[in-house]
Amino acid sequence: MSEQNTIRWDKDADGIVVLTLDDPNQSANTMNAAYLKSMRATVDRLVKEKDTVAGVILTSAKKTFFAGGDLKDLLKVRKEDAKQAFELGQEIKAQLRTLETLGKPVVAAINGAALGGGLEIALACHHRIIADVKGAQVGLPEVTLGLLPGGGGVVRTVRMLGIVDALMKVLLQGQRYRPQEAKEAGLVHEVVDSVEALLPAAKAWVKAHPTAQQPWDQKGYKIPGGTPSSPGLAANLPAFPANLRKQLKGANMPAPRAIMATAVESTQVDVDTAFTVESRYFTELVTGQVAKNMIQAFFFDMQHINSGGGRPKGYPQHTAKKVGVLGAGMMGAGIAYVCAKAGIDVVLKDVSLASAEKGKQYSVKLVEKAIQKGKSTKEKGDALLARIHPTTDAADLKGCDLVIEAVFEDVKLKHQVFQEVQDVVAPDAVLGSNTSTLPISVLAEGVKRTEDFVGMHFFSPVDKMPLLELIAGKKTSDATLAKAIDIAVQIGKTPIVVNDSRGFFTSRVIGTFLNEAIAMVGEGISPASVEQAGLQAGYPAAPLQLVDELTLTLPRKIRQETKAAILAEGKPWVEHRSYAVMDAMIDQHQRKGRSTGGGFYDYVDGKRTGLWAGLAQHFTKPGHTIPFEDMKERMLFAEAVDTVRCFDEGVLRSAADANIGSILGIGFPAWTGGVAQFINGYEGRTGNGPRGFIARARELAQRYGAHFEPPASLVEMAERGEFLK
Ligand code: NAI
Repeated sequence: MSEQNTIRWDKDADGIVVLTLDDPNQSANTMNAAYLKSMRATVDRLVKEKDTVAGVILTSAKKTFFAGGDLKDLLKVRKEDAKQAFELGQEIKAQLRTLETLGKPVVAAINGAALGGGLEIALACHHRIIADVKGAQVGLPEVTLGLLPGGGGVVRTVRMLGIVDALMKVLLQGQRYRPQEAKEAGLVHEVVDSVEALLPAAKAWVKAHPTAQQPWDQKGYKIPGGTPSSPGLAANLPAFPANLRKQLKGANMPAPRAIMATAVESTQVDVDTAFTVESRYFTELVTGQVAKNMIQAFFFDMQHINSGGGRPKGYPQHTAKKVGVLGAGMMGAGIAYVCAKAGIDVVLKDVSLASAEKGKQYSVKLVEKAIQKGKSTKEKGDALLARIHPTTDAADLKGCDLVIEAVFEDVKLKHQVFQEVQDVVAPDAVLGSNTSTLPISVLAEGVKRTEDFVGMHFFSPVDKMPLLELIAGKKTSDATLAKAIDIAVQIGKTPIVVNDSRGFFTSRVIGTFLNEAIAMVGEGISPASVEQAGLQAGYPAAPLQLVDELTLTLPRKIRQETKAAILAEGKPWVEHRSYAVMDAMIDQHQRKGRSTGGGFYDYVDGKRTGLWAGLAQHFTKPGHTIPFEDMKERMLFAEAVDTVRCFDEGVLRSAADANIGSILGIGFPAWTGGVAQFINGYEGRTGNGPRGFIARARELAQRYGAHFEPPASLVEMAERGEFLK
């Protein structure tokens, strides 16, 4: 199969060669073995027939221009394959370099998405024209998969845009640009209206520029903004790594660092040496574990979820038309906005019209902001707002095919609000609760149609947080689950599906992270070190800061309820070292969190001013510390071990749900690929993968408590040589 040619050659009467990327074995063109071979043959032929060639146009017969590297292959690259990976990168670049120095004008006619390797091919062309059609976009998103563009993407963007713009606009965030934006960012030169307009425009350019050269191959070329040795940049450059560290919060994110190093080093050498520098850094990343983790989560797990991998089969596609949102507080207001934005009519009900109106005001503000930022128009904004109807009257929910409840966290109240509306709404309406802690099966007892009842756990702020955790209660039907998944997609959220348990998956597991941090404070470790360890582990927020945001009283309330429920079931209740600290903070020191004026931190006018001095006095034991690595891993392992228990208890249905839910919902560090992948891809001192994880978990258990003891199911799984799935 890989023998087949993936690049068509058509020469017109003017001597212009149109190269059409068209892999006969795949729906998209990728940088596979067949491509490499075809490109090598094509480039060799161009060199040989150069005298009869007036110019070259590169385009594609697929919907996308070129899809880049094959991620399945990249997952398989081992440390031992470093040499091969390096040589592959060099070969890709050598081919493109020949094309760009052929002495003939080369144009990329971009007919669809050119991301990653696709844009890198286009960057080797002297001129880039893109058709402004659906799906057309360009960008180098490699960083989001823990990689760097290793096909010349770093070297060329830096030489084209300068170090600062290349890093900020293209390389470090992996932004994707629509055609017009791409032109403004300097990534393409021309935008045409249709795919049909591409070839004529490309041919016209070829004819007008017979001696085209890349800027960097022209005499007197200077890198825009200068090189690290030019005074302007030299003055700013030392701050770069520090800023990056701050942005990454010191976390284990090798890709941004490698990209920055490549960018800086590549400007100090000639183009060919620059490519070698880029290949070296690329090899380091592609043979490492972090890229594998991130590819697993952000590509394969997302694909599993987006393609309906967890959706019960055989149910028709569902679209919600009218939703009743009960409770117009912080969450209800946000839910109303995202539903209205997706075109769903919203009845926003609260106890007073003033509260309901206030809930709608939240959307007014978001709409204003979106218009200001140019992300929406007045017409769209007005239409969105017109879809939200504030009310106090249950009768207004007539015809709703969906109800989402977001009143106070109280079982009786939640039962009551459903009873008010269940006979008013459509007879098969989905009944969703946004509870963050109460068991769905208990809430479902308050409605007549328990099979239609489902947990719909949104995250705050609802408009920004991409995750929706759907919780199946004991009686939730598959039909309802399928509908809920469709609704999640309809409103632009990424759904994971879990089975009922106290705190479901996300709230429960994030609790173990916070408990571990608090326990360390109680052991006498300096709270500043604990915070630093959290950030360096890669969490987006420091743990004690997060506790202050949540308040200390909320986890305590949840703990007390959970304890009562567990004791009532006749099961043993195990005290965690964090509880005494939380109780002392609340009862002895009246430090309940930010909203009450102070918690682990002090606040002035709601702004954090520093750690509360009382912590040193009441908890910290001067000189007492533990290895920093242990601090970091206690947090990560606490969550990971509890995740295994979630699998054991049937709360989690797939590793994809665990990975995506933990990264998008509760800030589990992205470099790990999510909490299940953290175990599957663990790299430890005494071993890798689940076995290495188990060895380290046992060590932590011995030092810091039995809650780190790896569950038997994991030990058995590792012995079989298997992974969490
Ligand atoms: P909130 O206190 O801001 O809003 C609750 C709203 O419900 C208030 O506007 C209140 O007037 C209204 N309400 C009370 N009784 C009502 C009734 N009988 N009929 C209609 N409306 C009534 O609370 P928040 O933060 O919005 O939380 C709501 C729910 O969402 C809770 O179950 C909470 O556990 C859950 N949740 C909260 C998250 C958060 O970050 N705050 C995250 C995820 C879920």
